[in-house]
Amino acid sequence: MHKQFAITLSLLAALALALPATASDEAGHEYSPFAGMPLIMLMHNMQYYAHKLGLSVDAANTALEDFYAHELEEVIDAVSEIQDYEGIPIAENLNKTLMPAFEQLEAAIDKGGREAIDAAYNEVIIGCNACHAASEHGYIHIRRNHTNPYPQDFSRHD
Ligand code: HEC
Repeated sequence: MHKQFAITLSLLAALALALPATASDEAGHEYSPFAGMPLIMLMHNMQYYAHKLGLSVDAANTALEDFYAHELEEVIDAVSEIQDYEGIPIAENLNKTLMPAFEQLEAAIDKGGREAIDAAYNEVIIGCNACHAASEHGYIHIRRNHTNPYPQDFSRHD
C-alpha cells in the first residue's frame, strides 16, 4: 500500500515536471502566457528572464537553464506576434536578430558544454541590442549582468 502511494507520488511529480509552462484556452490550444501584452511589458519580461537565464548559465545549472530558456521563449513567441509597433517591423527585426541567437543557445543547452553555452548566451545579449538598433531604440543597451539581486539561489538543487 505504502509502495503504491510512493509510486503515485513519483508519477505525479514526473507529470508536474513534464508539463510545459504554457497555458491552454478552452479549445485546448496552447498560447504563450505573455500573448497580447504591450511591447513595453514584453521587454520588461524579456529583461527579467534573460537575466535569470544568465545567472543560471553562470551557475552551470542545466535544469534552471532549461526552465528560463523556456520562459524566455514564451516571451519571444509573444513578441513575434507583433508585426508593427509605431511603424517598426517588430517580428521581422526579431527574426533577423535575437531569434537565430536564441535558437543557437537552445541547441547549445540541449547539447551541453559549458563554454559553448556561455558563448551562445553572450550572442543572445548581442541579439537584444541588434534588435534595439534595428528598431529605433539603439539607446537601450543591454549588458550581461552577473549580479544576483534575487532571493533565489541559482546553484543546483536537483
Ligand atoms: C524585436 C526587437 C527587439 C528584441 C529582439 C528585443 N527588444 Fe527590447 N525593446 C525593443 C523595442 C522596440 C523597445 C521599446 C519599446 C517601447 O517603446 O514601448 C524595447 C525596450 C526594451 C527595454 C526598455 C523597457 C524596460 O523594461 O526597461 C528593455 C530593458 C529591453 N527592451 C530589453 C531587452 C532584452 C534583455 C532583450 C533580449 C533578451 C530585448 N530587449 C530584445 C525591441 C526589441
